[in-house]
Amino acid sequence: MRKILILNLVIVFFFGCNQQTATTSTKKLNDLDQKVDSLLNIMTLEEKIGQMNQYNGFWDVTGPVPSNGDAAKKYEHLKKGLVGSMLNVRGVENVRKVQKIAVEESRLGIPLIIGFDVIHGYETQSPIPLAESASWDLKAIKKSAQMAAKEAAAAGINWTFAPMVDISRDARWGRVMEGAGEDPFLGSKIGVARVEGFQGKDLSNPYTLAACAKHFAAYGFAESGKDYNTADVGLSTLYNTILPPFKSAHEAGVKTFMNSFNELNGIPATGDKFLQRDILKGKWHYEGFVVSDWGSIMEMIPHGYAKDKKHAAELAANSGSDMDMESYAYVNELASLVKEGKVSEELITDSARRILRVKFELGLFEDPYKYCNSDREKTVIGSKEMHDAALDMAKKSIVLLKNSNNILPLKKSGQKIALIGALASDKNSPLGNWRLAAKDNSAISVLEGMQAYKDNELSYAEGAAVYLGETNFPSELVLNTTDKSKFNEAIAIAKKADVVVMVLGEVGYQSGEARSRADLGLPGVQQELLETVYKVNKNIVLVLNNGRPLTITWADENIPGIVEAWQLGSQSGNAIAQVLYGDYNPSGKLPMTFPRSVGQVPIYYNYKNTGRPGPKREVFWSHYQDETNKPLYPFGYGLSYTSFDYKDLKVSNSSGNINVSVEITNTGQVKGKEVVQVYIRDIIASVTRPVKELKGFELIELTPSESKTITFQLTKKELGFYNNQGDFIVEPGEFQIFIGGSSDTNLKTTIDYK
Ligand code: BGC
Repeated sequence: MRKILILNLVIVFFFGCNQQTATTSTKKLNDLDQKVDSLLNIMTLEEKIGQMNQYNGFWDVTGPVPSNGDAAKKYEHLKKGLVGSMLNVRGVENVRKVQKIAVEESRLGIPLIIGFDVIHGYETQSPIPLAESASWDLKAIKKSAQMAAKEAAAAGINWTFAPMVDISRDARWGRVMEGAGEDPFLGSKIGVARVEGFQGKDLSNPYTLAACAKHFAAYGFAESGKDYNTADVGLSTLYNTILPPFKSAHEAGVKTFMNSFNELNGIPATGDKFLQRDILKGKWHYEGFVVSDWGSIMEMIPHGYAKDKKHAAELAANSGSDMDMESYAYVNELASLVKEGKVSEELITDSARRILRVKFELGLFEDPYKYCNSDREKTVIGSKEMHDAALDMAKKSIVLLKNSNNILPLKKSGQKIALIGALASDKNSPLGNWRLAAKDNSAISVLEGMQAYKDNELSYAEGAAVYLGETNFPSELVLNTTDKSKFNEAIAIAKKADVVVMVLGEVGYQSGEARSRADLGLPGVQQELLETVYKVNKNIVLVLNNGRPLTITWADENIPGIVEAWQLGSQSGNAIAQVLYGDYNPSGKLPMTFPRSVGQVPIYYNYKNTGRPGPKREVFWSHYQDETNKPLYPFGYGLSYTSFDYKDLKVSNSSGNINVSVEITNTGQVKGKEVVQVYIRDIIASVTRPVKELKGFELIELTPSESKTITFQLTKKELGFYNNQGDFIVEPGEFQIFIGGSSDTNLKTTIDYK
């Protein structure tokens, strides 16, 4: 009780200092700074360092636990005010317990900030972020983040480690599932939508969470797509491709950043002063705090950068990492480093200030238990509101890749449908990899979704299991890669069917952190199953469930219908069935290029032309001897059950901007949505520019025969770029402007930009 009194006295003191009532937001900020400063004034060095220490809860471990990470020690540290945050403590009762120790037993009673990986939902899962990105629907993505925040906040959580805004061009990297794909423009817009969704307008609203832009920086550029691997990138790529989504998240007010496991150009990101102090906190004036990734401070030792944990703590603190996630380096080493003059106390105070500010903004000092309401927990988590939103997002995330002879949508009656594939009845995989709080086997499967359409005759056979490979996740997921014993059942039902729906791809844990793959084909014997079934019935719709682009080149050449359905979360099967039966007209567009073969990777639409550009397939041109330069499906591509025609592309210069307009008509039989995309090419520049760059998009809906003229304004922001000094410059000259429903559009014109 005494501790609460002290805390309250401190707060009363803050308010006392600010009796003149804050009217403007500047005044509010000043008040906040005064509160933080007053608190810092009464904190010891050890207590400030305590704010910089984050411990994992005692369950939901998401990474290797350092050997000294015993629960008893954590408890002692909580009581001494040596812990600023905990992650992976969830549920109102559990959060209340740890918060109570911090608030009631530590000297100053400073509340904890409770972090959790709310990546695409909490208990109710929405589609994996790569899938949501395929919707190009910023409102829906924002709403999805809002719902996730509301559900997680009802479980006591107040900080999410999302969004991941790493650009990824290499489908071998398992974490492509967690981002928005390969494009910095789309990635920036989606990152902002997610930040705004999680944080809302007012962080003290108990239905919101503080967000975290991660992983700063270049984690998505791991060499050979192998997770945690070295990133070695040039300045032009760093400034123009990797950093823009982080900068946009910062400008949208993201409260925290997370640094990353990888080294960038020889310096581990966690100890990188250039990234954290010079760019983030220097050039960008970022005022939030930076948390390390799990154990990434101590990982600077095996990186060959720090000689021991103390040295690692020194490097991380001096280079701008404010909070130590699970390395135990700050709590054990920082105080003596300050005493030895190796880390200045000002830097410690600065880090503690950044962390305390966010806690004040969350309103945790007013009520540390504001996220701990058991009634709210019961009504919000898993509610209809959550599932309705998850279903809506899931439908919007589906991409129709191929639809020959209008095999889709399926007729609703009088059909014999054979449903084949282990993933078709899998209630776990649609939940994806980041589903720490979801109930196992809680997703609606495709089988269940299709059973709701009762006027067709539906039969089901597993056909083939999906191979997962080595994993430390539940052993039942390690399925046999060579077992073809169930092929015959699949062949038997396929022979009798009018249409075969095959659900193939990856199980939920096959993408995500540490789930890199060297082969991007359908795992296990699924390809063989597909080809075997094709021999007895060619009328196949292939539904893909996967966390990354796959090299389904044979399927594209042979299978008439292909639907990209990713891992769509709790409502997956309902969303897929509604699309298959035409109750929802798909409008998703790929946020990442699909390669034809793994040898083309990394492959992305916004590549540089080179001095010997393809596609000439002659020997001294930039090409492969054994593969075309073209992808299987380009970035921005996706079909609909209707068709769209683009005409009358017009461009003009006006007051330093370029105006672009085009008329789009729905030329098909049904209502549909289209993502209208604008790309530019800066023909000659002082630093070479890509052959195409997305610079605008709009999601429109048209009824049959309806036309709309869409206008985009390209300003300096869209027409400029970063030079190798990191300065944003705009150069007049010739620009090509492309417009269409995919990055491979040929509708273009040229303009002289003045
Ligand atoms: C991941 C982060 C995640 C953290 C906490 C790490 O392994 O790289 O993205 O937020 O664990 O779970």
